[in-house]
Amino acid sequence: MRQPPHLHPQTSSVSEGFDPELSVMAARPPIYPVSTYCFPSAEAAAHYFEVALGKTAATPGENVGLIYARINHPNAQMFEEALCSVERGALAAAAFTSGMSAITTTVLTLTRPGQTILYQRPVYGGTDHVLRHMLPDWNVAAIAVEEGHWREALAAHAKDLALVYFETPANPTLNMIDLAEMRAEIDRASPSRHVPLVVDNTFLGPVFQSPLEHGADAVLYSATKFLGGHSDLVAGALTVRDPEIVARVKETRAFLGTICEPFTAWMLQRSMATLWLRMTKQSKNASRLVPLLAAHPAVAHVHYPTLFSGDQARIFQKQCRAPGSMVAIDLHGGRDAAFRFLDALRVVRLAVSLGGVESLATHPLTTTASEMSDEDLKASGVTEGLVRLSIGVEYWRDLAADLQGALDAAGGK
Ligand SMILES: Cc1ncc(COP(=O)(O)O)c(C=O)c1O
Repeated sequence: MRQPPHLHPQTSSVSEGFDPELSVMAARPPIYPVSTYCFPSAEAAAHYFEVALGKTAATPGENVGLIYARINHPNAQMFEEALCSVERGALAAAAFTSGMSAITTTVLTLTRPGQTILYQRPVYGGTDHVLRHMLPDWNVAAIAVEEGHWREALAAHAKDLALVYFETPANPTLNMIDLAEMRAEIDRASPSRHVPLVVDNTFLGPVFQSPLEHGADAVLYSATKFLGGHSDLVAGALTVRDPEIVARVKETRAFLGTICEPFTAWMLQRSMATLWLRMTKQSKNASRLVPLLAAHPAVAHVHYPTLFSGDQARIFQKQCRAPGSMVAIDLHGGRDAAFRFLDALRVVRLAVSLGGVESLATHPLTTTASEMSDEDLKASGVTEGLVRLSIGVEYWRDLAADLQGALDAAGGK
């Protein structure tokens, strides 16, 4: 393929990964709804399999042909190249059927029975379930480390540590981790081997945060959210600095069958072209709405990066390029007030998920985090009165009026 010039992500997100010359000069990528690919010869087929199974390395510059869509297909490849071009520091990417399959396929590739995963709460409820309730059955311990206790935990698990896992900002409270500091802590505790630092960057996306530039080895996305951006698909993605990691993860993906199918990959690539526009507008909308939320008497606390103080404010300034469009509000009056607020919304819709063009609101305690233990909920800051908002691209004054009316209802006005 023609080598593109070094382009800004706002440009590369539009067309990277797609070459019209390979597709009858179509101006935009076509869909390849194809399960199996023809080989030019029996010898070529044998060679493709040897490369796919890691028995032979492809020669530099060799274009190894496609085999079967559970292993790879053009739409996944095109999306992966587009994503890679916008993720600062990334040299390879992989697409998955969901955020959860991106997480599990990556974690299973990087972990062996008898090893330990260290992570910090909060994490998304589904991730919490896999870490806490599924991995122990495979003899993998996932230990939630309290903030401020990382040095001891890393020292205690220097020998058996498979990886360190963070969500930053975390779902739903937006708690942030200083990734460069954490990288240095991990390296101090394990000086003789490189322990992978895996980061779920779903909330800020490649537009507003680049974990690979701060010491992360693998960045995971629920592509269902901002990357897809229209609440019309379920998908996941991984980006890495070291292509060797993606090669290993793609091998696991091929055998588990967790690659996203052609139509979804095509939709994701289409969405990449508007990623900057959407996320920038959404973040601007949220920044306009946050002062209104913070000033309302029904609101006890607003979780939003521009309102952070102390260490969290320092991390935001250092690590993020914008605050994004995820907001969590803690309402006076607990669950009853939260339910009154949610039921009074007219423009913002009541649904789980986030990152789409439409604004959504949810009550994490009784939905996405409902499986967590009381201790986990407390450690994660998920309270009875907490409502998570995902701000969309609508006209902000309409959202302001809707939120104001619902807060009045929550406060009993
Ligand atoms: C931060 C985060 N990571 C991962 C996931 C899982 O993604 P998916 O629903 O696409 O499997 C979610 C889903 O809400 C999420 O919020």
